[in-house]
Amino acid sequence: MKASVEAPSNIAFVKYWGARDLERAIPNHPSISMSLSVCRSLCTADFRDGDGGADDVWLIEEDGTRRRPDAKFSERACRHLDQLRRLTERRGRFVVGTRNTFPSAAGIASSASGFAALTLAAMRALGREPDGPELSSLARLSGSGSAARSVLGGYVEWPRGATDDECFAFPLAAASHWDLRDVIAVVEAEAKKVPSRDGHRLASSSPHYARRRELVPGRLETVRAAIHDRDLDALGPVIEEEGIELHLIAMSSRPPVYYWRPETLAVLARVRELREEGVSAWSTMDAGANVHVICAAAEEPAVATALASTAGVERVIRDGVGDGPRALASHLL
Ligand code: DP6
Repeated sequence: MKASVEAPSNIAFVKYWGARDLERAIPNHPSISMSLSVCRSLCTADFRDGDGGADDVWLIEEDGTRRRPDAKFSERACRHLDQLRRLTERRGRFVVGTRNTFPSAAGIASSASGFAALTLAAMRALGREPDGPELSSLARLSGSGSAARSVLGGYVEWPRGATDDECFAFPLAAASHWDLRDVIAVVEAEAKKVPSRDGHRLASSSPHYARRRELVPGRLETVRAAIHDRDLDALGPVIEEEGIELHLIAMSSRPPVYYWRPETLAVLARVRELREEGVSAWSTMDAGANVHVICAAAEEPAVATALASTAGVERVIRDGVGDGPRALASHLL
């Protein structure tokens, strides 16, 4: 049985950083994100019943040609497929093809959208249609916690979850509730050198992490209320603090982890200048050097122009809030 789906990437407003159980991606505290519309992953899973061979994972180019992913990605995907197969007690092998709608060398994290799409396509290929909570929990088992949020569209919260069973994302508001844009300034196109996983593991070694944990509940409250009220001036300062604090924790972990580049700081300065010029634009970053600038739809062209002309910006991706996963009209393989 073959199934094809696409799932959105997401940008975190309150970041997931640090886990109680890294293997199963059970976080230390809740997080909130916005699912994206342009940056998405496409995936076809073909489950061949009774076939005892090894699973096969392919990256599919836009023209349909296939190439092998790097060993790490392949291993991670195969481990996840194996878990899903065992959970459903099926015998057979998967052939999987996946593609991102954004340039693969854009330095935009693809594991959230990639594992959300892989989870849903694989479950459908196994003849199962998981409901929202189950799909989110299964996506989390990939080890990519942010994938637990990418199974939904719009604005999404992923709670801490008292038990494994309670650790699934839920919707805060649909994409149609608030047309926010995310203009992404790409300053580093290669994949980051230190995986998020190492950052999560080291987070509690930062002397600032305990203070972060005290601050997060208040930020969650503010972000929930700002989304509810569509209040960008309330949301902005919090997402900017969150972006900085994630990196503060990373840089003060032992050993330290540096994701920023000098160009990152140039973009952050440009965003502050934009605000002085009267544009309500707010930066935030995940575990990488690139900067996501959140603004209203009306300000997007001005923000995109300003970022494109900032020294060191290689490319600007104009994205915005998007819907959750959907079925694809045609298969990738
Ligand atoms: C900084 O464990 O979900 O993006 O391995 O890249 O999937 P991947 O990362 P994951 O951690 C992501 C952390 C973050 C913040 C966030 O998305 O909440």
